[in-house]
Amino acid sequence: MTVSTKPLDVCLQGLGRLEYRGYDSAGVACAAPGMDHVVWCKKAGRLSVLENELAKHPLPPAQTCIGHTRWATNGEPSDINAHPHISQDGKIALIHNGIIENANQLKFNLQSEGYNFVSQTDSEVAAKLLGKIANRIIEDTGKPDLFAAVRRLGKMLSGTFAILAIDVRQPDVVCAIRRDEPLVVGLGEDESFLASDVTAFVAYTKNALEIGQDNAVMIRGGRVEATDFDGNPVEARRFTVDWDASAVEKGGWDSFMDKEIHEDPASVRETLMGRFDLDGNIVLDELHIDESTLKNIDKITVVACGTASYAGFIAKYAIEHWVHIPVEVALAHEFRYRDPVLTPRTLVVAISQSGETMDTLMAIRHAREQDSKVLAICNTQGSSIPRESDAVLYTHAGPEIAVASTKAFVAQITACYLLGLYLAQVKGAMYRDEIHGVVQGLRAMPGKIQWVLEHDADVVKSTAIALVSRPAFLFLGRHVGYPVALEGALKLKEIAYAFTQGFAAGELKHGPIALVEEGVPVVVIVPSARQGNVLHDKVVSNIEEVKARGAYTIAVAEEGDPDVERYADVIFWRPQCPTLMSPLVDVVPLQLFAMDMANAKKLDVDKPRNLAKSVTVE
Ligand code: G6P
Repeated sequence: MTVSTKPLDVCLQGLGRLEYRGYDSAGVACAAPGMDHVVWCKKAGRLSVLENELAKHPLPPAQTCIGHTRWATNGEPSDINAHPHISQDGKIALIHNGIIENANQLKFNLQSEGYNFVSQTDSEVAAKLLGKIANRIIEDTGKPDLFAAVRRLGKMLSGTFAILAIDVRQPDVVCAIRRDEPLVVGLGEDESFLASDVTAFVAYTKNALEIGQDNAVMIRGGRVEATDFDGNPVEARRFTVDWDASAVEKGGWDSFMDKEIHEDPASVRETLMGRFDLDGNIVLDELHIDESTLKNIDKITVVACGTASYAGFIAKYAIEHWVHIPVEVALAHEFRYRDPVLTPRTLVVAISQSGETMDTLMAIRHAREQDSKVLAICNTQGSSIPRESDAVLYTHAGPEIAVASTKAFVAQITACYLLGLYLAQVKGAMYRDEIHGVVQGLRAMPGKIQWVLEHDADVVKSTAIALVSRPAFLFLGRHVGYPVALEGALKLKEIAYAFTQGFAAGELKHGPIALVEEGVPVVVIVPSARQGNVLHDKVVSNIEEVKARGAYTIAVAEEGDPDVERYADVIFWRPQCPTLMSPLVDVVPLQLFAMDMANAKKLDVDKPRNLAKSVTVE
């Protein structure tokens, strides 16, 4: 049996790649033949704190290693509460994502049997319980069987979990169980990997397996065995990662966010790629929902959270216009706990970059229970939301690492538009030429986004620097500019910690205008003045109204708009484009603005405080 530093090195590298999922503490544990107990190290703070500690006190070479970065749910971020958690006898180490709902009862039982607890976490309960189960198996059978032990643990836990465990008595295996938390296997040659998502191991292999709900898995060298919690073998779905390891590198950029904003054009282009036949008709064979079902759809309900919900909100304007069916946009966490009106003719569209947002996952489960068809718009292969949907339309933004979503947002809008136009095509709601015209407009957008990136960068940056000490910002928009305003406000709030509010410009006079006083920055998304767009003049009036009350106005407006030039203090220009396409360009300076402001404040733009990229708890 070979031991080396590779398991730990691979683990730390993987944690680096997954750190965007949580970054308040980190830890690792290793096992090797001949060890009496697992060795481990864990520290509160960023991964670098752990790495410094390991540099001072290195762990011995090992055969297996598990590691974790945490986003605290149970118990504050601290060395003690960090994972891994260790069994009472030190033989087993365990890491856990999720929330164990019966932890208190299990803890009480274990305490009454003499088990001691040092942390405030539910995960430690799982570790102590697994230690007990593993020892019981040894007593009963005479040999250790970690795989059987984790399955038994899985049956005893309620709540959500992805748990990985190592046992010093079987130092060549890593075992895992999952329920409602992501878990994928990487298939290497003579080596295997387990992780929350493929970014952790893509440098080693692009071949992966999805682990199903309530399944257990054991990896040993290059061998992988998957079963249900009763030990019956199960088939795990194989897939190949369709991007390169370099996609999760920062390259020459200062931050992942900077890189990803500059990937906005490619993100739209890639999401359009391969979705048309030679005649220019939209082909979405991958949907696997037959045309007769789609023809019958009489309502769309979008469920999503955060930025993804704003992509859905934009799509509402387009799809209602093109397909003439109502589109409702619901925050997934609200949708689940009211009584949404769903029928078998409702198409529920779940939008999620990560494919793991628990609120969205719960919403689609609820929708499917009501017999509605669920279509996922998702950026992550092998994730839970597409797996539990009837159909999936992947966005091809490539891996998004910065916590604040940017390139995934423009890809989500693009995918929603493709879906809307496809529905219009299937239902005959638009003439073929009309659809082709819109598609032409969509295809031109990557070039226009590029134009914005090149032309607006300097003015956006100098504006962000000039306004760095302003405590609050308002964002106004109408029609599709309204959700863009909401997204611009969210970006600035998320990463620059400014108090922001986005609202419909028409609402201004119904309340928000009371907030306007001397110097308050107001960002206004201005629709095009072309083609007699009545909304243009109304929004320009809104600029005048806030300006008259002392606001500092920043307009996002179409190139050469003379009215805007007259009233706005600063203008972020967009090139001419159809109104429904304008969100794809208008959001770009707002993404840059948030990033530049966060940089000016010397904040970590990729890992804002308190947030996590993938929120796998409700
Ligand atoms: C978190 C992230 C947001 C994201 C939202 C939805 O709150 O910080 O950036 O918009 O989750 O994530 P999803 O992966 O479902 O798109």
